[in-house]
Amino acid sequence: MTDHAQPDQPDQPDQPDQLSQLAALRRPEGQALLTEVRGTARDRELAVATRLRREHPAPLVTAALAQERLRQRAVAKFGPADAERMFFTPNGVEQSTRSSVAAYRAERFRALGVRSVADLCCGIGGDAIALARAGIRVLAVDRDPVTAATARANADALGLAELIEVREADVTDVDTTAYDAVFVDPARRGGRGRIFDPEAYSPPLSWAIGAALKAPKAALKVAPGIPHEAVPAEAEAEWISDGGDVKEAVLWFGTQPGLVRATLLPGPRELPGRGLPNPPVRPLGRYLYEPDGAVIRAHLVAEAAADLDGGLLDETIAYVTSDVLRPTPYATAYEITDALPFNVKKLKALLRERRVGVLTVKKRGSAVEPEELRRKVKPQGPHAATVFLTRVAGAPTMLIGHPAASARTAAPTPAPPPPLSPAPSPAPPPAH
Ligand SMILES: C[S@@+](CC[C@H](N)C(=O)[O-])C[C@H]1O[C@@H](n2cnc3c(N)ncnc32)[C@H](O)[C@@H]1O
Repeated sequence: MTDHAQPDQPDQPDQPDQLSQLAALRRPEGQALLTEVRGTARDRELAVATRLRREHPAPLVTAALAQERLRQRAVAKFGPADAERMFFTPNGVEQSTRSSVAAYRAERFRALGVRSVADLCCGIGGDAIALARAGIRVLAVDRDPVTAATARANADALGLAELIEVREADVTDVDTTAYDAVFVDPARRGGRGRIFDPEAYSPPLSWAIGAALKAPKAALKVAPGIPHEAVPAEAEAEWISDGGDVKEAVLWFGTQPGLVRATLLPGPRELPGRGLPNPPVRPLGRYLYEPDGAVIRAHLVAEAAADLDGGLLDETIAYVTSDVLRPTPYATAYEITDALPFNVKKLKALLRERRVGVLTVKKRGSAVEPEELRRKVKPQGPHAATVFLTRVAGAPTMLIGHPAASARTAAPTPAPPPPLSPAPSPAPPPAH
């Protein structure tokens, strides 16, 4: 490992060093080195460094290899074409918004008529870049000198410098009155990992809400686990997933106060809340629908289930069961072949009999660790199956099945397996 590339180190120490390294990497020799080290695998770094140090200053070689490693990490968020031109810090790559989500949000700002945004807490520029690409003029503010310099380098590297003005400042000192909108993405990681208390964000959520209320339009990025009670009455709350993974929640101001929505990327597929009551609890049908995480976090399982003729298996758990297979973008459908009380030996026997070697374990409302279960049942064989560990009417239950053959084809199919237990009763919001 190089001396520069300790992952997840704070960006604070050695700032003058980091600033001069960044500047050196942006000059022709640094750029040439970055091209030279592109694609270097971890186990080749030492050999590559040894060779390059014969012709280049050792600190520059080290910095180039460290930057290349960050670029490789950034590909998942920014794609290879941008990642290989951009500059990153360890925290910056970790905390930046992935380009799919940032582009979706920028387009939403643009559609709201916003032409200029004060991006308060810009990091290395993930959101600022997307906003500029949507044709929006951006004031990008970060108080960390290395981070601000990196954002500036990125605006230059991507040809967006005309639209992005980067300012190194504390956001609480910035006058945003000249902008159509503010966007705040507070730092949510402290020295010991993620911060869950919105008042421990930097800047605190209450400050960000105050700034949002003063602006014509605003969006605040918050953790997806934010409690619904913490959403101010003036805000719309949006939960966003990408490829099925929940990425963030956003509080929008100047849009539709009180609205809750789930947005699924790619797409976007948007599910607005309609205040529907929970689906009824009913016995297991032939299909089990696992709602997208954004739908669950937004408490919109009822809205997602509205067209499925379905119900909940348990009033506190967000699995929807139905006798019909209907295409829906908001949930993944599984055909359930077996439903049994939770029992490891029985599961093991059943998997052996079916020659299941690839077992996907999903769980809601169960404390069982999927990895531990997989170790205990030792799946072997050519077939695949999915087991859901959950509760049915309060009882630990395993449901075994597989992704429905064609969740995109409507295929009404009655004849469900016998119900596990009758448990109709009114339900509070499914929480898990
Ligand atoms: C989550 S990151 C922003 C990521 C950014 N949206 C992106 O996509 O790259 C939060 C940033 O806020 C900055 N920050 C935290 N408190 C700040 C403050 N009071 N003033 C200015 N910047 C601040 C941190 O330095 C950090 O870079």
